[in-house]
Amino acid sequence: MKTQVVIIGGGPSGLLLSQLLDRRGIESVVLERKTKEYVLGRIRAGVLERGLVGLMEEAGCADRLHAEGIVHDGTLVSHGDDMFRIDFTELTGTPVIVYGQTELTRDLYDARKEAGGSIEFEVDDVTILGADGDAPHVTYTVGGEARRIDCDFIAGCDGFHGVSRQAIPLSVRTEYEKVYPFGWLGILSETPPVHDELIYANSERGFALCSMRNSKLSRYYIQCSLSDSVNDWTDEAFWQELKRRIPGPMADKLVTGPSIEKSIAPLRSFVTEPMRWGRLFLCGDAAHIVPPTGAKGLNTAASDVHYLYEGLCEFYKAGSSTGIDAYSQRALNRIWKAERFSWWFSSLMHRYPEQSSFDLKMQISELDFLRSNKAAQTAMAQNYVGLPY
Ligand code: FAD
Ligand code: DHB
Repeated sequence: MKTQVVIIGGGPSGLLLSQLLDRRGIESVVLERKTKEYVLGRIRAGVLERGLVGLMEEAGCADRLHAEGIVHDGTLVSHGDDMFRIDFTELTGTPVIVYGQTELTRDLYDARKEAGGSIEFEVDDVTILGADGDAPHVTYTVGGEARRIDCDFIAGCDGFHGVSRQAIPLSVRTEYEKVYPFGWLGILSETPPVHDELIYANSERGFALCSMRNSKLSRYYIQCSLSDSVNDWTDEAFWQELKRRIPGPMADKLVTGPSIEKSIAPLRSFVTEPMRWGRLFLCGDAAHIVPPTGAKGLNTAASDVHYLYEGLCEFYKAGSSTGIDAYSQRALNRIWKAERFSWWFSSLMHRYPEQSSFDLKMQISELDFLRSNKAAQTAMAQNYVGLPY
């Protein structure tokens, strides 16, 4: 088989890239290790920046997002029982949209199917060959049968545990990492959200987040120990703990119910440089991870797709390599800012095992500054709604 771009990974970044390229007449094949049902069963991000919404529009996939996504003009931040609001729209002119990654991925799968796009599911043994030369190709097996695709370029959109990053020799690659000493326990429940905006809560018992997917579906998270397992937490224990971490009036009106999904995610900051090696380009979680505080994971994947899409269009439509040559630097410039924001917001909102009384005072005074200072709120809001591409 031969195609222009082989895309490894059928998560949001791979699908979005494939759909955007198709709209400009550039051919691709997507290789996904799991089944479509498995990919759509993963509950992940929920907040979309304007930039990602714009890409979905350009991809011709934004109708349901506009019909069902919820516009959020601001967010609440609480500290114990104290609470203040940051108004994104007033401070930056831009809101965010609450629309689940699962739904966005489903919309992209539907669009690829309608366009007759080529996606191979349940592929194994994906191997990248010749990426540093002129004849890149990818080999893999599907149903026990060996296959090969020759191509011009390879997009590594295969997440943190994929093969693409590992294909770049260690002598070329530098990795930067910070592992946080806690995780997030998240549940999804068919209950109305406690409030119509998100609540990021700093409490002496640890961080909590009240989020949602729609008016009947809530998503809640609490900071947990890395040694905790999902089985340690009954629904009842989760709700009790959440109530203790959010302001009293919110706890009083919290509607609880059975969880329909429960999972623990460790928190990590990670960046690999460069994001290009020859004809291989890394996109999204394959190249970087942020701690979830601030909802930047999916949104940074989208900005990578934007820069790579732009570069590939320039290559195929204008015969220029300028965009693909600049890809790694352009993507990394924005990623490091999202890394900084996610690290800062995580540091502000969580309890750390080794936190000294001085560290705690720093956190409290920073929260106080954010509550009372418009410049600080503007900086937070600019980062939250997403820095320009
Ligand atoms: P992925 O979504 O990981 O997609 C990669 C795809 O590649 C997967 O479908 C995988 O099956 C496939 N793949 C992997 N290896 C191979 C291979 N060898 N061959 C073929 N295919 C392969 N972000 C937020 O902003 N907010 C959140 O609340 C949030 N929660 C998260 C919870 C969890 C448990 C995780 C893991 C991530 C979370 N994120 C969150 C981050 C966000 O979901 C990711 O940033 C986003 O999914 C990145 O998209 P991606 O397409 O780059 O990678
Ligand atoms: C969600 C997750 C986040 O990490 C975040 O900062 C906001 C919302 C969510 O899953 O809804």
